[in-house]
Amino acid sequence: MIIPIFFSLSFLVSSTNAADFCVGDLNGPVGPAGYSCKKTVTVNDFVYSGLAATGNTSNLIKAAVTPAFSAQFPGVNGLGISIARLDLAVGGVIPMHTHPGASELILVMHGTLLAGFMSSDSKSVYSKTLNEGDIMVFPRGLLHFQINAGKTQSVAFVSFNSADPGIQIFHLSMFANDLPTGVIAKTTFLDTAQIKKLKGVLGGTG
Ligand SMILES: *[C@@H]1O[C@H](CO)[C@@H](O)[C@H](O)[C@H]1NC(C)=O
Repeated sequence: MIIPIFFSLSFLVSSTNAADFCVGDLNGPVGPAGYSCKKTVTVNDFVYSGLAATGNTSNLIKAAVTPAFSAQFPGVNGLGISIARLDLAVGGVIPMHTHPGASELILVMHGTLLAGFMSSDSKSVYSKTLNEGDIMVFPRGLLHFQINAGKTQSVAFVSFNSADPGIQIFHLSMFANDLPTGVIAKTTFLDTAQIKKLKGVLGGTG
């Protein structure tokens, strides 16, 4: 009796360990399911201090997004979760964007944010001023934004139900690449002058 019990227990222990986690090997290939698993793991693979520092908001949007996705924090690889820090200076904005791979939950730590998203049928806007301690969810894939609506620097943390939520910023997709001005004008009904201006600011050509 003893030998079968021993074998079944050791099988349970090893199979549980194998399924516990898959810390990402950033030197290995990455695909839709994430990174392959790192072979040797320590507690430091499950700890990340990159969100402690205030992001640099000296930029066009007066804001900074500091991600702790699987590429920065491989401990979340395969776990379906991640987090990022948002810093917004006075007047700062996280421009209209979507996360193709995840819903988002924001927690305001300091300051006041105006945040919102639009429904996919474009008929409804869900927008509200958020204060310290407030949380709000942004359903997967929907266009959304955050604006510092207060008179102080604001800090928020956004968590995602994906280790790699992805981010597509609307204005960068439209005006920061070589999509021809004529095509943009035709597909957005914007004036050519405005398109050229935005391409100039955001580094687009064509
Ligand atoms: C913040 O970014 C600006 C613009 O890139 C840079 O000039 C400045 O040195 C940065 N500040 C810090 C503290 O890194």
